[in-house]
Amino acid sequence: MDERFITSHLLPEEDMEEVFLRPTRLQDYIGQQQVRENIEVFIQAARERHQSLDHVLLSGPPGLGKTTLANIIASEMGTNIRKTSGPAIERAGDLAAILTNLEAGEVLFIDEIHRLNRTVEEIMYSAMEDYKIDIVIGKGPSARTLEVDINPFTLVGATTRPGLLSSPLRDRFGINCRLEFYEEKDLMQILQRTAQILKVPITPEGAAKLAACSRGTPRIANRLLKRVADFALVKGDGEITEELAETSLRSLLIDECGLDRMDRLILETIIQKFNGGPVGLDTLAAAISEESDSLTDVYEPYLLKLGFLHKTPRGRVVTERGYRHMGYKPHPSVKSGRLFDE
Ligand SMILES: Nc1ncnc2c1ncn2[C@@H]1O[C@H](COP(=O)(O)OP(=O)(O)O)[C@@H](O)[C@H]1O
Ligand SMILES: [Mg+2]
Repeated sequence: MDERFITSHLLPEEDMEEVFLRPTRLQDYIGQQQVRENIEVFIQAARERHQSLDHVLLSGPPGLGKTTLANIIASEMGTNIRKTSGPAIERAGDLAAILTNLEAGEVLFIDEIHRLNRTVEEIMYSAMEDYKIDIVIGKGPSARTLEVDINPFTLVGATTRPGLLSSPLRDRFGINCRLEFYEEKDLMQILQRTAQILKVPITPEGAAKLAACSRGTPRIANRLLKRVADFALVKGDGEITEELAETSLRSLLIDECGLDRMDRLILETIIQKFNGGPVGLDTLAAAISEESDSLTDVYEPYLLKLGFLHKTPRGRVVTERGYRHMGYKPHPSVKSGRLFDE
């Protein structure tokens, strides 16, 4: 079989430790209450009708639990999950091979589905809608198309950029779930669960401190926990207390909003080099030597959520709140203009 079609439960970039920390049942999936409750209903209905679950689109910033939820959907449906990703499927034939090999009811997980190319995507339309695909046989004038039936399956697509999905593809997902940044109380619960699995003692105050600095993101919460546990072991008695969390976060250059060096560099650059903005995405990316994709997908969403950054048609602007957080007095245009947001 095509090596790009990864039949095991791992994508190459998946970190083993992360896989090990993933909840495997819906009831252990913390937070995202609305999404969880809806998925529960749809799964139960599909099971009662003995049908495969309708196609699911999961969108949201990295680390919020899209891959985790895809795995949970398969396990709750009592079926296998096959994993691949948008950029890994290069040709229409690659997707045809994947689809024709699916067993009835299986989940096909396509990560970064917004990066499927157009010819591949077109095969997907009839596959999703009618469980049929057109395969072209031969070349040139003698080429003909053959319609092939495939087994009913559930496509679970994950994306950090739902806006980049074409509307025909988006419309074919019957279930559309948007994951939001987590509340601190949910992150606290996630941290406590992870601490228990990793056997790291942590006080409720210590967990609250880390939750507040996790940028609403379980992946970041788990990573912080591991780093701070190192400090606890070397500098303390092994337990993560509030005080130990505070001093460790300071050593890790993470501020009280959870912003790290890169987040602050972004704000600082817009303030210092571009007078607070507006500055275009590519110009900003070049100024901080970062890919524009990681700027939009990884860093911006939380800065926007905190209200430190605004997106305008002419580019990114630091808000008054952003100026204050960085210890500056707002630029006069920020105060007088419509960007004044407090
Ligand atoms: N709702 C949740 N409850 C508990 N842990 C979670 C939850 N969502 C995510 N995680 C943790 O965060 C990590 C990252 O989640 P993942 O599904 O890989 O995110 P994404 O695919 O959206 O980037 C996982 O290893 C998992 O341990
Ligand atoms: Mg993922």
